[in-house]
Formats: sequence, C-alpha cells, structure tokens
Amino acid sequence: PVLVVDFGAQYAQLIARRVREASVYSEIVPHSITAAEVAERNPAGIVLSGGPSSVYEEGAPRFDPAIFELGIPVLGICYGFQVMATALGGEVAHTGLREYGATAATVTDGSNALLAGQPAEQTVWMSHGDSVAKAPEGFEVLASTSSTPVAAFADDARRLYGVQWHPEVKHSEQGQRVLENFLHRAAGIPADWNSGNVIAEQVERIRAQVGGGKVLCALSGGVDSAVAAALVHEAVGDQLVCVFVDHGLLRQDERRQVEEDYVTATGVRLVTVDAREQFLSALAGVTDPEEKRKIIGREFIRTFERTQAGLVAESAADGDPIRFLVQGTLYPDVVESGGGSGTANIKSHHNVGGLPEDLQFELVEPLRALFKDEVRAIGAQLGLPAEIVQRQPFPGPGLGIRIVGEVTGERLELLRQADAIVRAELTAAGLDGQIWQCPVVLLADVRSVGVQGDGRTYGHPIVLRPVSSEDAMTADWTRLPYDLLARISNRITNEVSGVNRVVLDVTSKPPGTIEWE
Ligand code: XMP
Repeated sequence: PVLVVDFGAQYAQLIARRVREASVYSEIVPHSITAAEVAERNPAGIVLSGGPSSVYEEGAPRFDPAIFELGIPVLGICYGFQVMATALGGEVAHTGLREYGATAATVTDGSNALLAGQPAEQTVWMSHGDSVAKAPEGFEVLASTSSTPVAAFADDARRLYGVQWHPEVKHSEQGQRVLENFLHRAAGIPADWNSGNVIAEQVERIRAQVGGGKVLCALSGGVDSAVAAALVHEAVGDQLVCVFVDHGLLRQDERRQVEEDYVTATGVRLVTVDAREQFLSALAGVTDPEEKRKIIGREFIRTFERTQAGLVAESAADGDPIRFLVQGTLYPDVVESGGGSGTANIKSHHNVGGLPEDLQFELVEPLRALFKDEVRAIGAQLGLPAEIVQRQPFPGPGLGIRIVGEVTGERLELLRQADAIVRAELTAAGLDGQIWQCPVVLLADVRSVGVQGDGRTYGHPIVLRPVSSEDAMTADWTRLPYDLLARISNRITNEVSGVNRVVLDVTSKPPGTIEWE
C-alpha cells in the first residue's frame, strides 16, 4: 500500500481517498510510526499529511527521520512538507505571513516528474503560517508563490518530494494530478487498485475466516449493511442469513426494496420480522427525544435477540450453530477509534441498529478498509439496485425521531407521504447528488391556522431540512431552487391531509443538528 501519515486534523482521510481515486490502495498510519515499522510494511510510497501545528511548537507531532533513509518515495504535504524540510537540513521560518485559501502559484520547474505537464500559473489551496525558507541540500525548488519562495521541491535521486499547498482539496486546480504524478511518475506505482480486486480479495478473506460456518447479518436498509451482506453472500452463499426488522419507522417503499429488489439482486436468504405493533406500543405516550431513541434501541435489540435465538436454535439443531455476525463497519470508523495502524483493538461502534457488544459472535467486517464512496462502487459492481446503493443516510431510529411529539401510526403515515413527495421531487430535479440528505420533519405538537377551499384548517407544519455536508459533523442548509420548494410545498399541502403549511429550516450545523431530535 501507500501509507498516509496522519499529523492530525482531518487531512489524512481525504488524502487517503484521493490516493485511492488514483487507483492505488492507501492506509492511514499515525505519525508515531517508526522506520522499522514502516520497513516491515514495505509500502510502495508514503504521503505525509498536513496538520494543525507549527514544526517549532512544543508538542508538535514528531516523525522518525530515519524513514526518509529507507529508499521509499515520500511526498510531504503542508506540515508534512515542513517536517521533511526540517528533518533533512532545510530551514523553516516563522515569517509571520499567513497564507490561507486560494493562492496563485508559479511552477518554476515543470521538467520534474512531480509537476510535469502542469500549467505554469495555477491556483492552489494554502493553509499555513510557517514557510520553508531554504530547501534541504540536494533538493530543487519547483514552485513559488508571492509570499512563499519554496512552495514545492524535489530530490529525484532520493525520490523525496513536497508541496506547501493541499493537493487533496478540490480548490487546488491541479491537485489530483500532483498526487497522480507523485504516485505513478515519481514513485512508479501502477494504477491497479479497483472495486473488482477489492471484491475478489474480500471474498477470499471471508471464506478463510468463516470456513463452513453460518453467518448472521442484520440488514438496516442502509448502504453499509446491504453491501456487507452482499459481499458475504458472494463469498459463502447460503451460509448467510439476513434479518430485517420492520419497526414501522421506515419510509415509504423501504421494506419492499429490501424484501424484493435486494433479495432479487443478491439471492440472500432473508428473514423479515414484523415488529411494527411492538414498537408503536412501546413508543405510546413518549415525546422526549432521548427517551424515544432509547426505546427504539432497546426494542430493536430485543427483537433481534429473539430472532437470533430462534435462528441459532434452528441451526444448532442441524449441528451447525451460527457463529459469525456481519457488521458494516467502514474505514473512517476504524480510523476514528484509533485503529488506523491496523493493529489497535477496535471497539465495534456504529453497528447496525446499535446491537450490543456482548452478542456471542465473531465479527465479520468486510468493509473495514473502505470509504463510503468505495462501498457504493462495490455495491453497484455486485449488482445492487441504485435505490439501495445511492441511498442517503437515514438514522437508525427512522421516522421515530422525525415526529416532534408522540409517535402514532397515523402520524407516521402522514410523514411517510410527505417524505415520499420530497424525495421524488429532489430526484426529479436531479439534486440527489448535491445534497447530503433532506430530513422531513412533522411538527405534531404544533398547529397553525390555514385556509383551504372555503374552509378554515387547523393543521400541522412539515419542516424541510435539506443539508449539504462532507461527513455530517458539520453541515450547511442547501439553497434549493425556489420553484422546486414551491412545487414541494404545493404537493404536500394538497396531497397530505392534515398538513397545511411547509417550512424550510435555514440553520447550519452547528448550531442546529441535522435531525430535529
Ligand atoms: P445529527 O442530527 O446528529 O445527525 O446532526 C448526523 C447524522 O447522523 C444521522 N443520525 C443517525 N444515524 N442512528 C444513525 O444510524 C442514529 O441514532 C442517528 N441520529 C442521527 C443523521 O441522519 C445525520 O446523517
């Protein structure tokens, strides 16, 4: 692989994704990795990420300089560029000049592999306080900006390269080409990593792990569990049993998509548990958001355990108990829980529907090395329907936390209709790719006066919450076109009885969360 060294902040994940977009497999490692550990993993290349610190700051992330002596091609980015400069005898200065944002850079030496074939003038994304004042011995300077004389450098003999800017962000016009030049031209790494070999590799791993054993998977209707189950099914066929709990808090058509489209596409053996009554009665009279979440989580676990106990008993009777449980854990979960080095002991969070950790199963996690967009690509390659693979995030507690007030069957039905209209209109407008998600919320405890036909109405408002986001940690409200908003509003107030007003949530996150509860 290519190792991406994490110096903090969020840059390493983005770099790792961009490297993979260049068809090269990448893994994130902490900056504390030693030269011996790197040598043992024998990477084809190393990329040093940016970071929030100054190399001179007390407690600034350190890096083992012996790694530069291993003969492995290295690209330093921003802070990583300065780490490389300092370690090899160059100078980094506190200029007092901060460069931040889109900056004009001049390529002064386009003959080097790193910036080969690039326009002499280009816009790059900068974010730094310190600057490299002098490149180390043996390095050529390749680019500069008005306030940064050494904005990129290279030492071809040792295959060491660096850029002050952030090639991983889209605002750097030629960014992806800088990374590709480093990977393919400078380091000579072939572009041969793709979803096809990921599937082949995972299928082999799953077979090695589970042998002839039986495997259980809880499907949530979301992308991750759907793709994880499809991969496991590809590997071990009918040794896999999937369980889908219909808690009645699903959106229109979701159960059918799983029961029909998904099963047709994959051929998995599916057990659907109809727990709608159970959830509704558990939620009766409850209005507090946290309490709702707790109840939904608890009922989910109860339902799953009951079903699982039945299935385990059934298969134990054949003398072949279920020993494995599939989880759709993704790479960001692994990295964020400190397991980026691939050795740490990972807590299994983010599990489908919040299954308890003391379930007596060995986990099968075929998506542990993958980012969300890669999971989607693999799902598509495995033949899953676009409605499932391209699904936007939907919370485990479902519509239960999108009704402000008590959850009742009637209110769920009303919200389902409004939500279906919104989703259909967003899709028809071609905006699914541009929004992160659009929760539709029913304010069941609020009523307002309206007029419809000749009569006064006293109905509930529906809130539209379209948001744009990279990772759901922060978000902005999406500026949807007015005519689209008008069409959605008209349709909801005309078609959904009991709703006489549609309002738009124009709050970013923070301060508002994406969901209302
Ligand atoms: P908030 O509301 O915290 O949401 O800004 C951030 C993202 O997480 C989703 N979300 C959940 N997903 N179980 C989930 O699987 C949950 O309990 C849950 N609550 C919120 C939300 O839809 C958004 O994408």
